Amino acid sequence: MDWGAIDRYAKSLIKEAGHRIRVSFAGKIQIETKADANDLVTDIDREIEQFFISRIRRDFPGHRILGEEGFGDDVRSGEGVVWILDPIDGTMNFIHQRRNFAISLGIFADGVGMLGYIYDVMADDFYHAYRGEGAYRNDERLPVLEPVEVDKSIIGINASWVAPNRYIDHEAVGRLVADCRGTRSYGSAAIELAHVATGRLDAYLSMRLAPWDIAGGSVIIREVGAISTNLRGEDPDMISNDTFIAARQGLHQAILDQYIRLKQT
Ligand code: IPD
Ligand code: CA
Ligand code: CA
Ligand code: CA
Repeated sequence: MDWGAIDRYAKSLIKEAGHRIRVSFAGKIQIETKADANDLVTDIDREIEQFFISRIRRDFPGHRILGEEGFGDDVRSGEGVVWILDPIDGTMNFIHQRRNFAISLGIFADGVGMLGYIYDVMADDFYHAYRGEGAYRNDERLPVLEPVEVDKSIIGINASWVAPNRYIDHEAVGRLVADCRGTRSYGSAAIELAHVATGRLDAYLSMRLAPWDIAGGSVIIREVGAISTNLRGEDPDMISNDTFIAARQGLHQAILDQYIRLKQT
């Protein structure tokens, strides 16, 4: 497999998709709801996913595609080469703010993350990594992250954690919120992972994410020495939804050991 060629191809596809998204703001965006009133999708999410899929199918017919909007393949195993795509991560930001959303793509071979991309479209910041070759923001190589203690860390987490919920003991997580230096919430898992990669966030936690939210980011953060797992400490499986944490080494284990009490679901 010529991963260098696939890397160049994916980068140019993502840039072209980013251009299409920017142009879409000139027209009227159609908004619909999915699972509930706050689960939004637009015609642009769908069009961008279809754009990727038509190109990938034409140029890499042996590869499979797992995409959020369902135009890809019915992927139930990690076998072969799988492109895991979120055409717009942060759709609510896309609609309400017209910024703070990203294209997220991870390319996996037999379950191993080979290439990862997060394109913050409006900031024009392109985060990318090729397994074993380091991670980059545009042309700048990202340094390996230094360890940090909980009391010096900034944690990406959203407010639903500190209310009673069916996934985790919210009081234990409330102690993390109290013990860390501060918390932030950006509304795009991919952008939050880009922040972990650059050290702007020391950790990012979520009670429920899908493979397309984390596929690109997981490849990128690994290259700077950070770790991503579910909240049981297991590798994310890239097939089904699960809990999620990404953090610098050391901090990752400290959070799991001291602050995460999972409920049986
Ligand atoms: C969502 C965003 C959000 C996260 C949600 C995701 P979408 O993705 O990443 O930050 O909290 O769980 O579903 O639907 O905007 O692609
Ligand atoms: Ca969505
Ligand atoms: Ca998403
Ligand atoms: Ca999405």
